[in-house]
Amino acid sequence: MNAISDPRIPWPARLAKWLVSPALFDFWSTQLHPLWSLEQPLARLITRSQASRDAVTLILKPNRHWHGMRAGQHVNLGVEIQGRRLVRSYSPTLLDDGHLAITVKVIEGGGVSSYLAREARVGEIFTLTQAFGEMVLPDHPGDILLLAAGSGITPMRALLRSLAVRGMPHNVDLLYWVRHRDQLCFVDELDALAATHPGFRVRYLLTREGDAPDSRVDTISLEAIASLAQRRVLACGPSGFVQAARTRLAGQVAHFDAEAFSKPTSTEGDSGDVEVQLAASGRTLRLARGQSLLEGLEAQGVHPAYGCRMGICNTCACGRQSGRTRHLLTGELSSEPSSQVRLCISAPSTDLILDL
Ligand SMILES: Cc1cc2nc3c(=O)[nH]c(=O)nc-3n(C[C@H](O)[C@H](O)[C@H](O)COP(=O)(O)OP(=O)(O)OC[C@H]3O[C@@H](n4cnc5c(N)ncnc54)[C@H](O)[C@@H]3O)c2cc1C
Ligand code: FES
Repeated sequence: MNAISDPRIPWPARLAKWLVSPALFDFWSTQLHPLWSLEQPLARLITRSQASRDAVTLILKPNRHWHGMRAGQHVNLGVEIQGRRLVRSYSPTLLDDGHLAITVKVIEGGGVSSYLAREARVGEIFTLTQAFGEMVLPDHPGDILLLAAGSGITPMRALLRSLAVRGMPHNVDLLYWVRHRDQLCFVDELDALAATHPGFRVRYLLTREGDAPDSRVDTISLEAIASLAQRRVLACGPSGFVQAARTRLAGQVAHFDAEAFSKPTSTEGDSGDVEVQLAASGRTLRLARGQSLLEGLEAQGVHPAYGCRMGICNTCACGRQSGRTRHLLTGELSSEPSSQVRLCISAPSTDLILDL
């Protein structure tokens, strides 16, 4: 069914779709009401409150084009700062009233997190994408171990709330790392969940306070976690943390899923540069071997679409006609011709031809 005959779309919007382009309609309609758009999911900032010393929680009201989410998923939020549109991923909790709660940790020197925490005005409109991400729970997940570091707590909060709605049907342990106590978010909420659900336990780990050398994810004792080998483990946080959790637990537990919130480190030992042909535009560039294709292309004025920049949303996926790339998170090499590569987490290893 096309948009013009779709009965779910109100008739004035159907008529407008027929008469003008969505972009032109949106330009004029948002002058009348900031959330009116023909197709684009948008969200309005309703309130902002402090979640910890260096994090804020934003409550957003999405418009009807946003289709909801499963707990543990993410959205890309588009923000206009000094005339530039910047996009970053965040992991919301969907509240009972349909609003989204997004908790943003301020990254010093970070363009979007500082803006959202300090400057964004109540009433301001952001663009949203539909939710994406695979760190969701099946209907019967079994016992669970959640590992969160820093802002990696945000999808865990959403998952815990959804489990609580179902009466916390399994044993769930959460280990939550921050540097200092005043950086912890949701402490009252997590403690209240632990007090009301005997199957849920939370442990806070402070890496820069007290004697903490054995509390890192690669060294911490996990003896207190009953039946660890049967657990479903989900880990989220900066890429170093996620890599350490993966090295320690993947293959030792029933399931291991992880998502990193910060950029992968460059590939060690991959030096020099290669020739990259862009088949659609006819350009040929020299790109560094150790750097992600996305960053290398951007540095040379080519701007492919992107979202999370972390290999999760698939927005940057692009056909590779030939050549070999290296996965920046796992180090894996891939050279299958005519396959898709995610530019944000792939570095060129040999000369390449891309469908760009
Ligand atoms: C799927 C996904 C979900 C996310 N969910 C959340 C969330 O719910 N809450 C949240 O606060 N953040 C979340 N993030 C991180 C978020 O997208 C931004 O990266 C973060 O807000 C920093 O953006 P910025 O513009 O302020 O920093 P930028 O200007 O992009 O970066 C500035 C510097 O900080 C470094 N940096 C960027 N992000 C991080 C980070 N997370 N940790 C450490 N160093 C970093 C960069 O490498 C760079 O050097 C998520 C990321 C992904 C991929
Ligand atoms: S930008 Fe999301 S997968 Fe590359």
